[in-house]
Amino acid sequence: MPSTFTSVPGKSILFGEHAVVYGYPAIAIPLDSIAFKIKLIPQPTEKNSKIINLELGENLIYEDLDQEHSYRTAIAVILQELKIIKLPPMEIRLSSTIPIASGLGSSAAFAVCLVKSLSAFFGFRLTNKKVNEISFQIEIFQHGTPSGIDNTVIAFNKPVFFRKGYPPEFLKIGAPMNLVIADTGVRSMTKETVAQVRKFKESDPSVVDGIIHKIGDIVERAKNEIENGNSNAVGSLMTENHNLLAKLGVSCRELDHLVAVSLKEGALGAKLCGSGRGGNIVALCNEELAGSLRTALLNNGSTNCFISKIKETKGEV
Ligand code: MEV
Repeated sequence: MPSTFTSVPGKSILFGEHAVVYGYPAIAIPLDSIAFKIKLIPQPTEKNSKIINLELGENLIYEDLDQEHSYRTAIAVILQELKIIKLPPMEIRLSSTIPIASGLGSSAAFAVCLVKSLSAFFGFRLTNKKVNEISFQIEIFQHGTPSGIDNTVIAFNKPVFFRKGYPPEFLKIGAPMNLVIADTGVRSMTKETVAQVRKFKESDPSVVDGIIHKIGDIVERAKNEIENGNSNAVGSLMTENHNLLAKLGVSCRELDHLVAVSLKEGALGAKLCGSGRGGNIVALCNEELAGSLRTALLNNGSTNCFISKIKETKGEV
């Protein structure tokens, strides 16, 4: 079997995180300036497989991993789906420019990339739909109750309007829009913020239901504005969405600060993206402002910042 190389993008949720866990829609886009990459190299003269992740300083023997280890469970899910009994000896080289635990989809990107690379290695040509289904199973192992939006936007590599339990709708982008994505440097685990919101919902259902209902309404309006290419309206809906997420308790001082800096510098809107309590913000701005907004965010506490776009992508649906 020949070596394979696979690369998948990161993602940003533009609208609807957390509410999407409770059946409301959400909108997400792939981010192609960050990526998760896997190289698989057959090692027919070896007995075992190695998993190497230089960024995390990992050099692991697959067969020695605990059954519960995330790499082991992910590979087991894929082998079972492909009806392959045993992993033949290979070197699995992982590398990523998607920061971990920061709202940009690192865990879903790992799952999608592994499904694509192992299936290609064994000669399968899976549809994106099938890649997505298997990746979702891996995400369930890692997070417990994911909505499925992260694996969906990455598996299809397209802007999506997503509702749990429904086929994804691919968004028409009326006009490309400019984004600046800025990291607070604070790491936070999706599983924990989702559990925090669930606890809040159990203790104060009417407040939380009211907030997520308003978020759901924003998402529907945002879909129309994105399709109409109305960036001013998309921007103000983003800020409205951020304020509701803050009421839900998933913002933090650093996220609020970067949102405030973006608005002060002239962004059309800004919000936290992903599960929150740290991670990244996404700001929408006119093209001329993107460079200076990036500089302002870096000068005001952001640890990493890059420019991206809401745009249509080509490819199989
Ligand atoms: C995480 O990227 C988005 C959340 O809505 C969780 C999920 O949808 O599974 C917070």
